[in-house]
Amino acid sequence: MQNAAFRACKLPYVYVPLLVHPSDLAKAVQAIRVYNLAGVNVTVPHKERIVRHLDTLSEEAELCGAVNTVVNRDGVLFGDNTDGRGFLASLQHRGFSPHQRDIVLIGAGGSTRAVLVSLIRGGSQRITIVNRTLAKAQALVRTYRTLGQTRLEAASLDRLQEPAFFQNAALVVNCTSVGLHGEPFLPVAFAATSPRCLFYDLLYRPDLTTFLRQAHSIRRPTMDGRQMLLHQGALAFSLWTGQPAPLQVMSRTLARALRPT
Ligand code: ATR
Repeated sequence: MQNAAFRACKLPYVYVPLLVHPSDLAKAVQAIRVYNLAGVNVTVPHKERIVRHLDTLSEEAELCGAVNTVVNRDGVLFGDNTDGRGFLASLQHRGFSPHQRDIVLIGAGGSTRAVLVSLIRGGSQRITIVNRTLAKAQALVRTYRTLGQTRLEAASLDRLQEPAFFQNAALVVNCTSVGLHGEPFLPVAFAATSPRCLFYDLLYRPDLTTFLRQAHSIRRPTMDGRQMLLHQGALAFSLWTGQPAPLQVMSRTLARALRPT
């Protein structure tokens, strides 16, 4: 996706995968300076641990305590997090605004954090974080309750089965890893949601995830993690190159790469 974008814009960049062992992270960050790399993306398990090795951070990276994009500005390493903004951009692309809406987030890990921060900044009215380990959802509420005007609440997994729980939900997001391997999703009162409630799974599979399959079967609109992947990548492209990303080229290339074989 990135290489196709560089080619389309005739930019002399190349994007390569590098496997870094956790114990080598500091050396890998130093190598960005030594080799004068334009920047890097960072993924599991380095997103949180890389923070302390960087020189400056964006507000989002600071708020999430995690970095997915590093930009090398003449040897000064700037860490940003485009996951949350990518999520918002994907919603915007779909014509959905989180402003003044009620939203349910399932999960309380690193991806929830990025999505939560972006939705608060997007002016959501109320966000309920549902998690197997309730204490983790409550900790997120404590951390971010003063970030904006959004009302934050924590709830346990069994609440997902209560029809009344979804009364005002405009968006329900799966931020857990449940369904990644095609396993059944948790019990959810899907049919209690309004017909326009959007179901978004941060996961993606060649077929629909079990979460989205159930939403789709009762004709609810759905989105999956490919859209977030595309938009976080487009934002990273712009950070590195200072140019708008060729979104269509990236989208087509991503679709080809993820096509079932
Ligand atoms: P990420 O960084 O992608 O968000 P993570 O931090 O490992 O990943 O978080 C995984 C999330 O999936 C957590 O909210 C986890 O719930 P717990 O906090 O209770 O561990 C959730 N999760 C994983 N497997 C689950 C399962 N079988 N049932 C319910 N929730 C699950």
